[in-house]
Amino acid sequence: MNVDGAMKQDRRGFLRVAGTTTAALALGGLPFAAHAARAATEKLKIGVVGSGRVGGTLGGVWVKAGHEVMFSSRDLEHDKKLAANLGPNARAGTPREAAAFGEVLLISVPYRALPDVGKDLGNLVKGKVVIDTCNPIPSRDGDIATWAREKGAGLASAELLPGARIVRGFNAIGYARMGAAHEQPGRIGMPIAGDDAQAVAVASRLIREIGYEPVLIGGLAMGKYLMPGTPLAGERTPDQIRQIAATLK
Ligand SMILES: NC(=O)c1ccc[n+]([C@@H]2O[C@H](COP(=O)([O-])OP(=O)(O)OC[C@H]3O[C@@H](n4cnc5c(N)ncnc54)[C@H](OP(=O)(O)O)[C@@H]3O)[C@@H](O)[C@H]2O)c1
Repeated sequence: MNVDGAMKQDRRGFLRVAGTTTAALALGGLPFAAHAARAATEKLKIGVVGSGRVGGTLGGVWVKAGHEVMFSSRDLEHDKKLAANLGPNARAGTPREAAAFGEVLLISVPYRALPDVGKDLGNLVKGKVVIDTCNPIPSRDGDIATWAREKGAGLASAELLPGARIVRGFNAIGYARMGAAHEQPGRIGMPIAGDDAQAVAVASRLIREIGYEPVLIGGLAMGKYLMPGTPLAGERTPDQIRQIAATLK
């Protein structure tokens, strides 16, 4: 599957989502549609929950791309320093403040923290596009990771973050490379999985803006392949990802 056609604007200003002209998106007063339309062209507010290696790096490159980013973790002082180094488009807050601030959320915590994050954020994630980088690693995260692997990481995250419009992404490349893809735009593919076409389109835009070419491998059930140690792990071209994804079920 390819996300290139997931969200395009036609001459009448309608948005095409997954190949279907969605007339409703041209009507004012529909928050969901309005959000998707804005996401196609305007700068976004991004809430980062988990401002460690991945969250700090991705949040930083999105700040450089012109978005407004609020960083959060359980260490507000760390996040204030991080934001101060990135300039006026960056700020710091609690995880609940970041979730309320963000039109799009990046959740990037150790998997063992995800149940608490889900409870803490509660309704704040409902209806929001959430990019989920979190990998269940039993040796690090314990029983919750074993459960998530059995269920599949995408479906498990959806259960822990009820109501979120989850897109799995950035799961199996090293954080140190996440700020470098823009040096050769489109060369490296980013496999993603999600059930919500508009959430996929918004995430795809953010992924493309920092230099990766998003490749939708399927719905959240396919998120089980977006982890270290799977055939899709590591840096690959978009075509390589498509070829590998075609062999997976
Ligand atoms: N490292 C990589 O190259 C890489 C690549 C792809 C995917 N991943 C996955 O992405 C996730 C993040 O990895 P990472 O390497 O960035 O980890 P990390 O450097 O340890 O950062 C984790 C962040 O989550 C925060 N955190 C932990 N518990 C929290 C909670 N209950 N509420 C809010 N924030 C919390 C931590 O800060 P406090 O502890 O101060 O709260 C920290 O800011 C993991 O699931 C990992 O498997 C990692």
